[in-house]
Parts: sequence; structure tokens; C-alpha cells
Amino acid sequence: MRALTWHGKHDVRVDTVDDPEILNPRDAIIKVTSTAICGSDLHLYDGYIPTMQAGDILGHEFMGEVVETGPGSTLKKGQRVVVPFTIACGSCYHCGKNQYSACDNSNPADNQDIADTLYGQPMAGLFGYSHMTGGYSGGQAEYVRVPFSDVGPIVIPDGIEDDKVLFLSDILPTGWQAAENAEIEPGDTVAVWGCGPVGLFCVQSAFLMGAARVIAIDHFPRRLEMAAKFGAETINYEESQTYEALMEMTGGIGPDACIDAVGLEAHGLFVDNVWDQIKASTFLGTDRAHSIRQAILACRKGGRVSMPAVYGGFVDKFPLGAFMQKGLTLKTGQTHVQRYLPGLLTAILEEKIDTTFLISHRLGLEQAPDGYRMFHDHQNDVTKVVLKPGFDRVAA
Ligand SMILES: NC(=O)c1ccc[n+]([C@@H]2O[C@H](COP(=O)([O-])OP(=O)(O)OC[C@H]3O[C@@H](n4cnc5c(N)ncnc54)[C@H](O)[C@@H]3O)[C@@H](O)[C@H]2O)c1
Ligand SMILES: [Zn+2]
Ligand SMILES: [Zn+2]
Repeated sequence: MRALTWHGKHDVRVDTVDDPEILNPRDAIIKVTSTAICGSDLHLYDGYIPTMQAGDILGHEFMGEVVETGPGSTLKKGQRVVVPFTIACGSCYHCGKNQYSACDNSNPADNQDIADTLYGQPMAGLFGYSHMTGGYSGGQAEYVRVPFSDVGPIVIPDGIEDDKVLFLSDILPTGWQAAENAEIEPGDTVAVWGCGPVGLFCVQSAFLMGAARVIAIDHFPRRLEMAAKFGAETINYEESQTYEALMEMTGGIGPDACIDAVGLEAHGLFVDNVWDQIKASTFLGTDRAHSIRQAILACRKGGRVSMPAVYGGFVDKFPLGAFMQKGLTLKTGQTHVQRYLPGLLTAILEEKIDTTFLISHRLGLEQAPDGYRMFHDHQNDVTKVVLKPGFDRVAA
């Protein structure tokens, strides 16, 4: 089959590779009909995530048709499913608490040493996201093996187009969980750093949860315009100072809840960001943590900080004093996708949540390397790239 494979920093290629096979009774094989490139994939593309190997198949946002099932799968051939990016067994201690991205059984033991050292315990397996998270082949391919297929995938009713439901695989539940973690109370003011796909779903989710005001921060005009269309007020951090603008907009109090939807590749010529960049380029540090630092400083006293954004390693200049003195709460994590699927599918079907607005480009799988380049280099115009295996080139 054809698949998008990682070969190093800024080097991804479409190669011919072996077809996936059923390895365990609960596996299913999915023929991929749509798959998207995620902001998290850019962290791999930029070489920030350790334990990648040349030839690894990328992609953790995908859906398709069931073509083969093991004896323990509950899926049936011909069903259309969206697959969560987090792989979870459904029966361990953490899955029992609905904390699927903390599953203890989906990340093979021989990949866990580095996670034990870095994080204290290993995380769940993830599709197409390094050997630290299981080394699973991803879904930017014609076919993909889905382990624990009786737990993760959600069956999509006939007649619903892929583009409407594809983002159930990751970014929609991620935006939703981030807003839930912000513990929004009716009337709250919520600030969201980053108007990428995750930030834009945070904006929609925050309003649905009762926020009176959402303030969205970015520097790409088109992304800010999208946030404004959903009712957000906006700050372009290249035109005004984010902290000062937030204080002015909230009468000096600060937002009730702050959501960091930027992550370890924050842009901007801020002192701490340049410092992080120098450290990263000299292998003295890993992540650029500007947005989470700023969210902590701007949040009102006693407020909540939610961090869906991905960080990989260690940061310094973290405002721990402000965090403690102001009595803030911080919630974060890879998304427990399985927990949110039924409710969010209903919200899409009832048109309470808009998903297709995000897609700026549709390409064939063979054009995937172009898709990565575009999403990486032209973030203003390229808000989300969807790849359609089987099509040579699909119009935007
Ligand atoms: N927790 C999870 O399970 C999960 C799932 C999906 C994605 N993520 C993470 O969420 C983050 C966002 O994902 P995305 O797909 O929207 O990515 P993206 O790269 O498309 O968007 C990030 C946005 O942040 C903006 N930004 C950069 N620096 C900024 C700054 N200093 N202030 C304000 N905005 C700034 C960028 O301009 C960009 O629009 C990434 O870190 C991604 O890895 C987490
Ligand atoms: Zn993703
Ligand atoms: Zn589990």
C-alpha cells in the first residue's frame, strides 16, 4: 500500500510499504477514506519529538471503512468509523476511570523505558506518534491496523460526509476537553492562546459551555477572523501586547479561565521565547513555553488554566510563584477521545458544532508532503489539510 512516512526533519515521503495485518483478536483493518494533518504532526515534522525512526508511518486523525476484523472486534465489514488518536484497552485502571489517554495496556513494554524516565510512567499508545507512544503505524496511509477496535472507533451513520465527522478523531474532542478543563461558569471570560484548529474548537466549546466572552489570541489574520466569526474578541499579538490588552479588556482583573492552545513551538520575539529558542538550538532545552507562562501571568487570581497544547520535555523560567500565589488550577493532558465521541457526534448531527469551516485544502495522499509543507509554511491560509487516499488530487 502507499503511506506517508517520516525520514527526518522536514523530510516526509509517500512510499510503498507492507499492508497492515490483523495481529491480535481485537484488531480491525480500516481502509482510510479521509485523514488530516495535525498541529501535533508539525512537532514531528520539525523534529521535536524523540524516538521517531526513519520509515515510521504518520497520521493520527483518520476515518474509513472496516475491511477486516479479528474475532474479538465488535466492528463489522463495511461500517464507516472514525478512530480516536489515543489507543485504549477499555479495561485497565485508567480506562475504568474514563482516562483513556492514560491507558496502561496500549503502549508495549519494550517502548516504555524512555517514557518512564521522562514522565515517571508511560502514556497510552498513540497512532503515528513515535516509539515512545507505542510505535504504531498511523493513518496517513491507504490502510491502517486499529488495535482494541471494540473500544475506540465510533460508527458513523450513513449519509454523513467524512468532512463533517473526521475531526472527532482528535481536534474537536481536544478543544472540548480543554474547555471542560477550564471549568467554565456561565458569564465567564475565557482567553484562548492560538487560533489553530484546536484553539478554534476551544472557542466554539467555551461559548457552548456558557462563556459570556471569549478572547482569542494569535497573529495570523485569517485564523483570528475565523475566531471572530464564532463571536470571539481578538488580540493580534503583533499589533498589541497580549498581557496589557487582556488587562484592559477585563478591567484589570484578568480572564477567569485561560487556555493554552499553542504548545511547544510558540512564535514571537519575546524575551523568554528567544531564550527558549537559543536553548533548544544548543540542545540545552526542548520546549518553547511562552504561551503557558503568559496564560499563568494573565489569568485572574483564583482562576483556571487549561493546557491542551503539547509539551515534550523540560522548561525553565516557569512562573511557579505566580501560579501558587494566585491560587490557580492547571489541567492538561492528551485527550480522552473515547469519552467524548457519542456526545460530540450528536452535537455535529444536530448542527450545534461546525466542523467543515476549518478545511482549507483537500489533497490526495500522494500530495501529502506538499500538504505538510503548506501547513508548516503558510499557516495563515492553510488552516487544515485533509488527505483523501485514492484520489490523485482533490480540489480545495
Ligand atoms: N492534548 C491533545 O490531546 C492535543 C491534541 C491535538 C493537538 N494538540 C496540541 O494543541 C496545539 C495546537 O494544535 P493546532 O493543531 O491548533 O496547531 P497549529 O500549529 O495549527 O496552531 C497553533 C497556533 O498558535 C499560534 N501561536 C503561536 N505562537 C503564539 C503566541 N505566542 N501567542 C498566541 N498564539 C500563538 C500560531 O500562530 C497558530 O495559529 C499543539 O501543541 C498540538 O500539538 C494537543
Ligand atoms: Zn492531532
Ligand atoms: Zn486501558
